[in-house]
Amino acid sequence: MRILKASPEAIAEAGALLREGRLVAFPTETVYGLGGNALDGRAVAGIFATKGRPQFNPLIVHVPNVAEAEKLAMLGPAARRLAEAFWPGPLTLVLQRRPDSGLSELVTAGLDTVAIRIPDHPIARAVLIAAGVPVAAPSANRSGHVSATMARHVAEDFETSPPPLALILDGGPTAHGVESTVLDATGDEIVLLRPGAVPTEVIETILGAKVRRALDGSDKPMSPGQLASHYAPRARVRLEAVDVQAGEALLAFGSSPLPTAGPAVNLSPAGDLMEAAANLFAALRALDATGVDGIAVMPIPSEGLGEAINDRLRRAAVGR
Ligand code: TXA
Ligand code: MG
Repeated sequence: MRILKASPEAIAEAGALLREGRLVAFPTETVYGLGGNALDGRAVAGIFATKGRPQFNPLIVHVPNVAEAEKLAMLGPAARRLAEAFWPGPLTLVLQRRPDSGLSELVTAGLDTVAIRIPDHPIARAVLIAAGVPVAAPSANRSGHVSATMARHVAEDFETSPPPLALILDGGPTAHGVESTVLDATGDEIVLLRPGAVPTEVIETILGAKVRRALDGSDKPMSPGQLASHYAPRARVRLEAVDVQAGEALLAFGSSPLPTAGPAVNLSPAGDLMEAAANLFAALRALDATGVDGIAVMPIPSEGLGEAINDRLRRAAVGR
């Protein structure tokens, strides 16, 4: 795995790699992030593949300043107050996504909202400016491992990783060691989705109001799968389809799509799971928008990213 000290040259290279759709691990003030171009579905699919995560959960999109944040999402009055107080810094705001944001549907797991953060770390901000695109970045650790606070941890976790991870930028140990606090700021009432580096009490002082805790009854924050807003198609979803029935659209995969006269989208004619993941949410939306009663989904192999694709489709089949 290639590790470079975060020199100006290395940062410029990191920016170019990100623009091209490659992945770069870089330090933030919380933990190291595994970054990819948030406008590029394949890059985002590469993040999930590299992390080995069996589920698609929405990722945080990192930008260098508020002007860039406003190109992607709408900030209401409360969100604006929080942004002024805590950005740049270890606070993530879940906001209404702009329809013309250009963000990959995979980065938001098909939701109409997007989580945005402006990191307060000179290397992270320099990388974001060099990239010139919004950067999706979950913590740079393999799924199930602890978050990485040093470049060496990242290298150990991804030693045998496939090519999308092109570079690890070494900026020394991170300051906080815990992830950013995640708030839902889409409405008037601010909701804590994940406790993190900014204490909730400090947020409440700034707001002059209580923050509701969206916790699961123990002390654990709700996982995105439990969020009521999690994207689910209106149409009935039928898995492992071997035919397309009347009133159904087809979600195909691979080089031999089922015959149908109705609406159809092929997730990947080449049978490439990375491409299929990148297209999944946009395809579900497009088929749903045709007004069909149901969506017949062809079998999708469960290896690699197929596990997360099938997890998402199973949830869609169970319904709201
Ligand atoms: O400190 C951090 O936040 C690190 C560094 C690298 O910036 N990043 C990080 O990202 O922890 P990630 O992707 O591992 O965390 C994303 C969190 C998850 O809890 C996810 O459920 C929540 O943000 N989230 C993201 N988008 C959301 C959305 N649209 N609605 C609700 N929750 C969302
Ligand atoms: Mg994490």
